Amino acid sequence: MDGNRNPGLIAVTAGVGFAVLFALLGVTAVLDGKIAFGLAVVSLAVSALIYVFYSRGNAVTKTGYASLILLIAIGLMIPFLLVAQTQTQANAQAAQYELTLQRGAAIYSQYCATCHGYLGQGINGPKLNNNPVVNKLSDQDLQRIISGGISNPNDPSVFLMPAWLDTYGGSLTQDDINYLVAFIRSSDPSYLSTQGLPSTNGFDLVYGTLTNATQQAEYEAEKKGGSKPPASEFVDKTADTAVTIEAVTSTTNSSGFQWQVLGGTLPNITIKAGTKVTWINNSAGIPHNVVSGSGGVPNNKFPDSPPVLATGESYSYTFTTPGEYPYYCGIHPAMIGWITVQ
Ligand code: HEC
Repeated sequence: MDGNRNPGLIAVTAGVGFAVLFALLGVTAVLDGKIAFGLAVVSLAVSALIYVFYSRGNAVTKTGYASLILLIAIGLMIPFLLVAQTQTQANAQAAQYELTLQRGAAIYSQYCATCHGYLGQGINGPKLNNNPVVNKLSDQDLQRIISGGISNPNDPSVFLMPAWLDTYGGSLTQDDINYLVAFIRSSDPSYLSTQGLPSTNGFDLVYGTLTNATQQAEYEAEKKGGSKPPASEFVDKTADTAVTIEAVTSTTNSSGFQWQVLGGTLPNITIKAGTKVTWINNSAGIPHNVVSGSGGVPNNKFPDSPPVLATGESYSYTFTTPGEYPYYCGIHPAMIGWITVQ
């Protein structure tokens, strides 16, 4: 080696060079941080081993140094392997939880949404999406209610909500019920934070589980139609004794049709008690009807039209009692409107 370069020193220089390179790749996120760190440690260890191999000294010292280098390299790797392991576990758990919510959402949209609403806003059944009363129930209470249903306190043979568990005659398995409990729970932010769960509200996943256009239109109608539209979206017809609302084709409504005041654009009107409202079907070749209610759910606050109003046909009703009267087309539930009677 006299006069020549020491290959051991070249190896160390190269090793440090590689280590710096990998560190840079790690920092700039070209390589995953843990992989970059591992490669840097391996470069240093290999170069140190080569250095020891070429150094003077007897076999025993060489072996001693080599062992020490390997020990340090492995020692450096261990915490990183542990962190990587815990992270993999956490990721798997999060993925599992997401799957549970997905399944809960799919079951909910098939079995529960008709009464509790696609958004969990409540229709005939109470609100379930972050309802303080429901949030107070224990997991066991929720299990029991969904499994066994709720009977009328005055007549236990009449169910306000049917039993859902298969062993009680329902259509759901114990697993399904577990998914539903996790799903309903996920709408309670404080439950999620105390349980250390990801902040996904399962109700936000419901739309993605809908498999047909009718359900999607119902969902959108519920999203829009649950509450009274803002005052700016009402047409003041309090000076009129008769108002006509027409069904026309639409490029903005998801159903392809919309209600609007005859010749106008908005479906919502304010009228005086005693005003006659006429709905006319002005869309070519497509039947419509008028249902009292919102969110695709009838509320029977005024009599519904016949089930089919063919093109050109109309239906009239005179509102005599002040109040709020949402309405929709039973064939295209996304066609909604609102009548306020003063
Ligand atoms: C046929 C309509 C209907 C369907 C379908 C329905 N429910 Fe209900 N649900 C109700 C009614 C009505 C109540 C309230 C009963 C009462 O007055 O105590 C209720 C109550 C509940 C409650 C208790 C809420 C509270 O405030 O205590 C939960 C939880 C619940 N339902 C979950 C579900 C789940 C989950 C599904 C789907 C598997 C479902 N429901 C399907 C009608 C329904």
